[in-house]
Amino acid sequence: MTRSIPLPPARLAFAPDGTPFSESCGDVYHSAAGGHAQARHVFLSGNGLPARWRESGTFAILETGFGLGLNFLATWLAWRNDPRRCRKLCFISLENRPFTAGDLAIVHAAWPEFSALSAALRARWPMPGAGRHRLELECGVELALVFGDAEETLPGLDDAVDAFYLDGFSPAKNPGLWSPAVCRNLARLAKPGATLATWSVAGGVRRALSAAGFAVEKRPGFAGKRQMLAGRRLPRHPGSPLQGTVESVD
Ligand SMILES: C[S@@+](CC[C@H](N)C(=O)[O-])C[C@H]1O[C@@H](n2cnc3c(N)ncnc32)[C@H](O)[C@@H]1O
Repeated sequence: MTRSIPLPPARLAFAPDGTPFSESCGDVYHSAAGGHAQARHVFLSGNGLPARWRESGTFAILETGFGLGLNFLATWLAWRNDPRRCRKLCFISLENRPFTAGDLAIVHAAWPEFSALSAALRARWPMPGAGRHRLELECGVELALVFGDAEETLPGLDDAVDAFYLDGFSPAKNPGLWSPAVCRNLARLAKPGATLATWSVAGGVRRALSAAGFAVEKRPGFAGKRQMLAGRRLPRHPGSPLQGTVESVD
């Protein structure tokens, strides 16, 4: 891709219990009870994975907030270990403050099971320029990193998405990534029957997703959390104002 405006890097910091922490957002990057286990419980199981990708040739996942890439690595590992995996896995992830490859290496060292995949990811890690960076990681696995504010980049995407991972810090601390306009754009990109999952059950998030055209339900949460949210794109009705709309920032 052409040279683009560099984004401000994320600054690696840790909460007192050792969990990676964002000083700018005042929130942790993953549950203190475990990043890999949280990814499996909330994002993979919440979207019916790995079972659902067995029904497809290509399966596309869109994530709000790449962060440390733990959800991506967990998904890639699950895909690799699944003898009935789909032919192609496309993982699109939005991020406005990417870490450096060096900081990813420091954090990923806590998960030895990711060591080979982390090395492959970091070897192809792009410069932090705004825009879409396509990484062919192995035959059948493509990661598209969309660097920039999701509120600005989402309206320009035209991917057809099977599953959404909503992982953008707490909605109370980072409301922009959970806004009604963002939710409408997710619904616009959703394939029929697309699913979503998130650890947040905040009322504002549920209302924004429902208004955008997702049916949402609470499920048992991960570790200390009582609940999480799972959802499914409702069928579009002809003439619906949601159908095919391209939303910009509210
Ligand atoms: C909880 S962390 C994501 C953790 C990640 N999914 C993982 O597996 O490691 C939230 C991420 O969302 C990013 N983020 C927050 N607001 C954003 C925005 N408006 N646009 C794009 N990314 C955003 C943050 O920089 C942060 O990396």
